[in-house]
Amino acid sequence: MSAESTAIIRSARTVQGVVRIPGDKSISHRYAMLAAIAEGTSRFHNFSAAQDCASTLGCMAGLGAEWRRLGDGAIEIGGMGRHLKPPTRPLDCGNSGSTMRMLSGILAGQHFVSELFGDESLSRRPMARIIMPLSEMGARISSNEAGRSPLKIQGGALRAIHYKPEVASAQVKSCVLFAGLFAEGETVVEEPIRTRDHGEIALRAFGVEVESNGNIASIRGGQPLAAIEAHVPGDLSSAAFFLCAAALFPGSQISLPGILMNPTRARLLDILIQMGLKISVAQVEQQHGELVGAIEARGATWQGGSVAGADTAALIDEIPVLAAIAPYSENGIEVHDAKELRVKESDRIAAVATNLRKMGAEVEERPDGLRIPGGQRLHGGELDSFGDHRIAMAFAVAALRAEGETVIRGADAAGVSYPTFFEDLRSITGS
Ligand code: S3P
Repeated sequence: MSAESTAIIRSARTVQGVVRIPGDKSISHRYAMLAAIAEGTSRFHNFSAAQDCASTLGCMAGLGAEWRRLGDGAIEIGGMGRHLKPPTRPLDCGNSGSTMRMLSGILAGQHFVSELFGDESLSRRPMARIIMPLSEMGARISSNEAGRSPLKIQGGALRAIHYKPEVASAQVKSCVLFAGLFAEGETVVEEPIRTRDHGEIALRAFGVEVESNGNIASIRGGQPLAAIEAHVPGDLSSAAFFLCAAALFPGSQISLPGILMNPTRARLLDILIQMGLKISVAQVEQQHGELVGAIEARGATWQGGSVAGADTAALIDEIPVLAAIAPYSENGIEVHDAKELRVKESDRIAAVATNLRKMGAEVEERPDGLRIPGGQRLHGGELDSFGDHRIAMAFAVAALRAEGETVIRGADAAGVSYPTFFEDLRSITGS
């Protein structure tokens, strides 16, 4: 990649090899936040190298919970117990919606004022979804116009609520459960569709009792957290780029050891199998409540299919790459019920459609999804990441089957979740 962060991707004939995927971003954020309010020093191996998680670590340090990297690459975070230190300056969440939304839950329970801000993309993203429940619990939160950050949070004594969010969002669920730690009584979150449960699992790992039953999770306030030592499983959402690369080439073969298999995330594997990728999973074990396994994938006929309803919510981060490789499928891919994609790090429906058209594809963009016919031949082109990590990586994968070279502007956005993505991709394409 050049200094101006342009990636050039050449077409490939196959993909082969082993990729060690960095630690899961969703789990790393939660471990860092909970370690900061635990008693004692926590240690994490394979903690995500993502810039987003560095934003969380920076915020926690700003609240008194210092962290350091050990010689073996693990990180240690010094817990402050339930009382963090008032920050001396506004907390920078960078590009990370997870940092801003989930940390707000903890700050709502602290007896001081804190301010949270982020980059241009984060400043456009909806925060009313966390402002509403936290205000109901007793925090005083001010935002910019239309419920956007920067946020100013006056925390304090909270009351428990039974909250039914309108959108299915694990960030919102974790935010409210984290606030519930500081509330009097039992806080309940009842979701429209069950989302990823890393918050509940991480809380339990730190010794907190959390009840969960389907789409309902609850927590009793006042419980202490005890420091842990844990290994973070490889991020399945990052693994998705390599699985989709394998799907493009009959006969390709890749191995991804130590990948997160949490059932609320692993629906991706079922969908990829239905669409034609051959996948087997071995060495499944549980680590701190999270399932982990080794994935072997082989490319065969990439058929395509459709994603809708609860599946869309379960695959929300993987839809950009599935859509980017849809034109190469036999039957095309349809995505429904994906309105949330419009308020991610970029408008991901528009970004996918724009880049695919630049590669010569036919795409139908809908308010809440995409219809992309199969059997298309694409050519390389000059594409944009739109400052969005998943768009940069999705089109690096799509470019592997295009005729000619593809240039991706703003490719360094990939570092937001996967700093070594382009090296790892080159290692399996041999280019
Ligand atoms: C995440 C939840 C999802 C996902 C994001 C990580 C999490 O966001 O898109 O990348 O760790 O809880 P929403 O909760 O906004 O759907």
